[in-house]
Formats: sequence, structure tokens, C-alpha cells
Amino acid sequence: MTVHFIGAGPGAPDLLTLRGRDLIAACPVCLYAGSLVPEAVLGHCPAGARVINTAPMDLDAIMAEIAKAHAADQDVARLHSGDMSVWSAMGEQIRRLKEMGIAYTVTPGVPSFAAAAATIGAELTLPGVAQSVVLTRTPGRASSMPEGETLTAFGATGATLAIHLSIQNLARVTADLIPHYGPDCPVAVIWRASWPDERVVRATLATLEGAMPDGISRTALILVGPALAASDFDESRLYAADYDRRYRPQSATSPWADWSERDD
Ligand SMILES: C[S@@+](CC[C@H](N)C(=O)[O-])C[C@H]1O[C@@H](n2cnc3c(N)ncnc32)[C@H](O)[C@@H]1O
Repeated sequence: MTVHFIGAGPGAPDLLTLRGRDLIAACPVCLYAGSLVPEAVLGHCPAGARVINTAPMDLDAIMAEIAKAHAADQDVARLHSGDMSVWSAMGEQIRRLKEMGIAYTVTPGVPSFAAAAATIGAELTLPGVAQSVVLTRTPGRASSMPEGETLTAFGATGATLAIHLSIQNLARVTADLIPHYGPDCPVAVIWRASWPDERVVRATLATLEGAMPDGISRTALILVGPALAASDFDESRLYAADYDRRYRPQSATSPWADWSERDD
């Protein structure tokens, strides 16, 4: 018996990996985080599967369901939104599984920051503008932030910020970031990226709060940084016509000229 942690993606049922889909279809038990995993993804469960929404359950109750499936030798598909590597609560479940001697696998999913960037058609790492993306959040009722992981500290880097779980903290986000990025820095808020009713709000740090329409709450990502509106960025050297590289040697004396004959 195995518990398969599966990243269910940002919401659209077809933004699920083929591996994730096939695992869901093969498991007689499915536990899903119903606050964010859309019901449509559950359409991949086999007929007769035991499908349980874990949103109203605590960790002990979730582990009890897994123990029950273990006793019946039934594999479990454990679905969380986006990718499992960020804010999925997978870590504490894996720790319990190890104590219980239960095997598990992890299947990645499309993270919400990637879905949000796709919605607005943006590359978050433009040459000469930003070469790092910080996935972060502000403190919430259930989660404090470790010392040092502050928006002001990340803002000092000038990187593109993908701020999760923070749509209710817009005043704090803008106050912390304006000193670093300036009031005119572009911001995009993407609500329910990839859902049929997704919405985008584009603004600057100075105008963001006033630009937010009613009804944007919870499932929204805040992207901040100059890369969101830059148009005069450098082209990447990788595709420059004169760039000597392994797959496009520029001369017979290029170190890459005999690449096809080398095995390193
Ligand atoms: C508990 S975290 C889960 C993150 C998830 N594991 C991931 O890979 O993105 C929930 C937060 O992710 C963001 N989020 C998740 N799905 C989203 C979506 N479809 N559109 C915009 N933001 C989303 C929101 O900031 C939301 O508050």
C-alpha cells in the first residue's frame, strides 16, 4: 500500500500531469484538499472510489483515514493544489507516514505562480532586469514568518516576487515594497489562475489597493517586479547569432566544434 502525494495543479483539470492523472485513476481512495482542489480533477477517480474532502479535517483525522486505507491494503491518492513543494502541508504528513512505516511517492504539479505568469503571458526572469523569482508570503493567522524572511528583505534584492496567501494583506505588501521598488513598480494580481472565472488586476505598487475590485479574495497571487512591464530588456545571449555554444559552434576552432564526437 502506498500514499501518492499528487500536485493537482492550479485549478484547470487539464493542468494535471499524465502521471498524476493515471495515479488518481489507479487509487481506490482519494483524499483531496477541497478548499483549493477543484471537483473536476476528481473526475479521474475510478468508479466506486472512496473520495474524501480533507478541508474540514485535522491532521489526526487525515492520518486515521490513511491508516484505514493501509489496513485494507488500498493505495491512496493524496491531492493538494498546485505543486507539493510549497505550502502543501505534505511535510508533516510524510513525517507521520514514516513513523507509521507507510510508503509514499510524490508527483509534482503545476504551481500557481507558473499558472499566474502564464495567464499574463510574462517571463519573470528577463535578462538584465530580474534573474530570480522569490516565492513567498506574508504572515497569516495560522502561520508566522521565520525571522529574516520579510518582504523588505526580499524586496531589497529587486527580484520578481510571487507573493502567495496575502491578498488580505495588500496594505502591508505595498508599504513594505514601495521603498525598494518605487511607487511605479508594476504589479499583477491573478485571481484563480486557470479557472474559468480567472481575473487579472494590473496596477503599480502605488495604485494597487485602489485598483482592486470587489470579490477578489483568497485564491490570488500577487506578482511584483520590474520584469512585469519591461520592454527594453536585453536579449538572452543563448540565442545571439554570434554566441559560441555547444549546440551551435561558430567556427572550426570553437571548443564546441568537435562536440558531436565527444562523449562528455
Ligand atoms: C496553500 S497555498 C498553495 C500553493 C500551491 N501548493 C502552489 O503550488 O501554488 C494557496 C495559495 O496559493 C495561491 N494559489 C493557489 N492556486 C491559485 C490559483 N489558481 N490562482 C492564483 N493563486 C493561487 C494563492 O496565493 C493561495 O492563497
